[in-house]
Amino acid sequence: MTRLRVAAVQTDPVFGRVDENVATALALVPADCDLAVLPELFATGYQFRDPAEALALAEPAPDGPVCAALREFAAARDVTLVAGLAERAGDRVFNSAVLLRPDGSWSVYRKTHLFRDEHALFAPGDTGFAATAAAGVAVGLMVCYDWIFPESARTLALAGARLICHPSNLVLPWCPDAMVTRCLENRVFAVTANRVGHENRTGIPLRFIGRSQVVSPRGERLAALGEDETGAAVAEIVLDEALAVERDDLLGARRPEFYSL
Ligand code: ACM
Repeated sequence: MTRLRVAAVQTDPVFGRVDENVATALALVPADCDLAVLPELFATGYQFRDPAEALALAEPAPDGPVCAALREFAAARDVTLVAGLAERAGDRVFNSAVLLRPDGSWSVYRKTHLFRDEHALFAPGDTGFAATAAAGVAVGLMVCYDWIFPESARTLALAGARLICHPSNLVLPWCPDAMVTRCLENRVFAVTANRVGHENRTGIPLRFIGRSQVVSPRGERLAALGEDETGAAVAEIVLDEALAVERDDLLGARRPEFYSL
């Protein structure tokens, strides 16, 4: 059995104050955890006014200053970090999740399903969903609104993921419950790290719903935070073989010949 301490870090970033937001988020990572997930766009804030502003605040992965700070922290504290990042690639900006391991290696996932005004700011993700080894487990990455498409978590589970890391900036109320179902129907753990607070930089007021959580393959909420607090939801997850068999049995019982997707 592999035991892992995982954390969903819930922050209240101030738009554009990158250094401060990074420092505040890292200060909330619990000392004894193996893997911590930070929210979507945790360093910059969410509501960019236009593509130029997104480009100006974005950075290349994994060499920009935010990734450097994360990498340094991951190495010093022997923790795997997953964090939402405005990722610059040439003149395009992706709404990405980066995964940084303590040994300096990294992976990136670019958000597949952009939400509302994000379409005007970000390029649609081109990485697709894949599982990657980190902290002794097969990790799958998805970002916020990917939750409403069951195909996201299903594709990750079919790729072998046992733990879904899910940086988020949730504004709709349904995701925390939907992720319970995603975990049950795919027999995976999920760590959803959301933010709290408000932004209104474009005349469209947004309130972020918090409620970061760690959910088990049996649909149990192992840890959860409230709607307004910052902090970390921390849980020990146990990756036992019985669960792996359960998952393989479930996925193996699918009848894809009757699904038209
Ligand atoms: C979202 O995808 N940030 C709602």
